[in-house]
Amino acid sequence: MFTIGLIASGKGSNIRAILENIRQGELDVKASVILSDNPHSKALKIAEEEGIKHYCIPEEKYKTTLSVKTEREYVRILKEYNVDLVCFAGFMRIIKKEMLNNFFGRIVNIHPSLLPAFPGVDAWKQALNYGVKFAGCTTHFVETDIDAGPIILQAVVPVLEDDTYDTLHKRIQEKEHIIYPLTIKLIAEGKVNLSGRRVSITC
Ligand code: GRF
Repeated sequence: MFTIGLIASGKGSNIRAILENIRQGELDVKASVILSDNPHSKALKIAEEEGIKHYCIPEEKYKTTLSVKTEREYVRILKEYNVDLVCFAGFMRIIKKEMLNNFFGRIVNIHPSLLPAFPGVDAWKQALNYGVKFAGCTTHFVETDIDAGPIILQAVVPVLEDDTYDTLHKRIQEKEHIIYPLTIKLIAEGKVNLSGRRVSITC
């Protein structure tokens, strides 16, 4: 069976949505392991509740890039669980060669903006402050540059005049919870084709 490994640092709402899709039979994959760099991440709690193997692999607090040693540990566990696809779901660390080489073309991420607009942190705040009329979210393959790999799916939400950071983020996250499970499903079914930077979906 197609196996995914999930990695998160925060509240884990995307992980919850993915697991819910699996439970409902919408997504025919096995979530074999959940990893986090943050011992307080809800992702670990969700894993515990769901009986999924989970590990916290911390890194120094103010270090955004994983050290080679720590990154090797992530890779070791992902391999131990025979992960076909690595899914970042709010993983707040920068990865380098170790993971990219070992899972080449098999790491995906979700970002809360219509990339290439607003990469980096708090993308919904950047969008609201910029004054765009439409915001959204993007799933993409992970490459060396941050939030810059080939785009798989995007979903758009309108920015309303009375939006606050919170209301806009909530509306974006509702879409994330739809396109992330769908992205994984399409990849697991072998329907996602990559040609250069362009991704096409086979129906
Ligand atoms: C999401 O907004 C995702 O786009 C970004 O990190 C956030 C994670 O949210 N990469 P959650 O922890 O899944 O709720």
